[in-house]
Amino acid sequence: MNNQIQLYRGEVFYFKSSPLESGDSYCYYPEGALVVSDGKVMEAGFYDMLKDKYPSACLVDYSGKLLMPGFIDSHIHYPQSEMIGMYGKQLLDWLNDYTYPTEKAFSSREYAERVAHFFINELLCNGTTSCMAYATVHKTSVDALFTVASEYNMRMLTGKVLMNRNAPDYLTDTEESGEADTRSLIEKWHKQGRNLYVITPRFSITSTHDQLISAARLHEEYPDTYIQTHLSENRNEIESTLTLSSECMDYLEVYERAGLVTDRSVFGHCIHLSDSECHRLVEAGAVMAHCPTSNLFLGSGLFDMQRANRVNMQTTLATDVGGGTSFSLFRTMDKSYKIQQLNGYSMSVFESLYKCTQGTAKALQLDDKIGNFKTGREADFIVLDYAATPSQQARKEYLKRNGKWTLENKLFGLQTLGDDRNIVATYLAGNKVYTSWEILRYAIF
Ligand code: GUN
Ligand code: ZN
Repeated sequence: MNNQIQLYRGEVFYFKSSPLESGDSYCYYPEGALVVSDGKVMEAGFYDMLKDKYPSACLVDYSGKLLMPGFIDSHIHYPQSEMIGMYGKQLLDWLNDYTYPTEKAFSSREYAERVAHFFINELLCNGTTSCMAYATVHKTSVDALFTVASEYNMRMLTGKVLMNRNAPDYLTDTEESGEADTRSLIEKWHKQGRNLYVITPRFSITSTHDQLISAARLHEEYPDTYIQTHLSENRNEIESTLTLSSECMDYLEVYERAGLVTDRSVFGHCIHLSDSECHRLVEAGAVMAHCPTSNLFLGSGLFDMQRANRVNMQTTLATDVGGGTSFSLFRTMDKSYKIQQLNGYSMSVFESLYKCTQGTAKALQLDDKIGNFKTGREADFIVLDYAATPSQQARKEYLKRNGKWTLENKLFGLQTLGDDRNIVATYLAGNKVYTSWEILRYAIF
């Protein structure tokens, strides 16, 4: 931890509130600075003012670059890092053919730690400073990810997958062992350093009603943990779910009957919901993780953001690697924009960026800690180059020539053309953990 005051000079941007609710939703300082001490944000504002206010601060000059809060990925599977981009299957076959065999290897602590290192490195190279991740059914997989995240002092949310049916024997637990393992992992890791535990029944197909109830019981016992699962991603998945739970009128009811729909529950995908399911999710204060690259890749369907906004759904953006095809939330925002375009909704870049930063922090009830640059927040931030590639450079010069090099056009360019090449540096709690010019990318083997 660095106790010396650091003054980072550059353009500074962060959200104060939702751009859907307010015309004054963000702070932007074109000639700005971010003041950090002891891993926390002291202040963000105009450079000229802050350099006089903190004359003894150590200056780090990122002039011409953009400083903003790091991305928060609300739904990702770390054990699927290696099996990203596997050809040709829709969800249920893809799970059986690729995902489950891949997750088998995570009974080995050593293997899990190697992948966890690779995973975190990929997140940091892509400007993602926090995530809510699925581990596997193995306790060791959770130990590995929390251990590596702790080495980086990264805010990590994860948990052991619960699955006690409809999966290979090597990947199933029981109601009793799943509950006991989850309890011991919560006791060991939850709120230790920056780690937070997420109770993780994979989805209804792979958990009996009794296991879902045991997950809800654990959440009641530890109410400041989170819950994550999948909901309404694929038509065949929905059909199988309703065959297995024929007493339920819809998919959400399966989770409702177990007591899993809370304001700390994050539901991945949520593509094919009925109006009633949408309203019940909103009423419960639950969170949705929209995963556009995955939904396109697995052919799952087209999420309707306008509809979600109409009912005030708390929606976040997520990569869903390895169903998702990129660790980059820029790529994710781009795909999200294009899906909405098909529906006649030209989603603003402010909306999509909010749903990867402050909006996600707020949905996870963590906005007093991350997601923005208000005083006292943990200094998780990224430094961005607007023009890291020849085509981005050409676009910048074109816009400048035409007097249109505005914040909105700059951000939209990052969304549409950006990826890990635009990430100049990544900081976790005030510590530089990645720079594009210093640190080699990590290989698993
Ligand atoms: N549904 C249940 N498990 C998974 C998974 O690993 N990935 C995706 N995309 N959907 C799921
Ligand atoms: Zn998923």
